[in-house]
Amino acid sequence: MKKVIEMKDICKSFWIADNEELKVLKKINLTVYEGEFVAIVGASGSGKSTLMNIIGALDRPTTGEYFLDGEDIAGMKDRQLSEIRNRKIGFVFQTFNLIPRTNAVKNVALPMLYAGMPSRRANRKAKELLAQVDMKDRMYHNPNELSGGQKQRVAIARSIANNPGIILADEPTGALDSVTGRMIMDLFHRLHSQQGKTIVLITHSPELAQECERIITLKDGVIIKEERGLGHASY
Ligand SMILES: Nc1ncnc2c1ncn2[C@@H]1O[C@H](COP(=O)(O)OP(=O)(O)OP(=O)(O)O)[C@@H](O)[C@H]1O
Ligand SMILES: [Mg+2]
Repeated sequence: MKKVIEMKDICKSFWIADNEELKVLKKINLTVYEGEFVAIVGASGSGKSTLMNIIGALDRPTTGEYFLDGEDIAGMKDRQLSEIRNRKIGFVFQTFNLIPRTNAVKNVALPMLYAGMPSRRANRKAKELLAQVDMKDRMYHNPNELSGGQKQRVAIARSIANNPGIILADEPTGALDSVTGRMIMDLFHRLHSQQGKTIVLITHSPELAQECERIITLKDGVIIKEERGLGHASY
């Protein structure tokens, strides 16, 4: 099986105050295979988002090696990294991060425009993607006119706009009630099973984590547990 994420002894420190080093990630070894659905859990402050930012090449490790889809990202320039991010990874965040005063179609079209797609095609594809997440009848609404669950569906449509193989979701249901969260989780399951996306999901919910194929527990910047979830097909 193809490794899409391969981390070897990844450490991440932040320097706070003068010379005080805050070690947030300590020797993380993590491999995620193509098509896996992995949950990352752990207490607040354990380093989940820091790890996710490194997986998504939004940030660089302090030390250690990281291969994203087989490519060593250490030597890459920022421009190369952002190009790889745009092509290979879809991001979903707790607070949706949609562009205000910009309708759903335009929000979803934007990453395709950045990738160089002509605007008519990008708009057409954006509408198709919004239909896929059941947002056809709210396509021309701005984010402030949408409910949390609707905003998150727009954000998920945007995350898959450039057809990335990997979706990284940091607490995507954290700001939603449980029924709406359930709906969003079902959408991830659909992207996983029907489109073969590799998904890494950070969640505080043990129930949602259990639905994934593998559950990784972080504590104080260390992976303390790796277990199989109920979503593991061949187990
Ligand atoms: N840019 C930064 N500078 C300094 N410290 C940081 C920075 N980013 C994160 N940290 C620290 O790293 C630790 C881990 O933070 P992180 O956001 O990864 O936690 P988390 O597991 O995602 O928590 P939560 O569940 O609350 O989102 C925290 O102690 C945080 O204060
Ligand atoms: Mg976090």
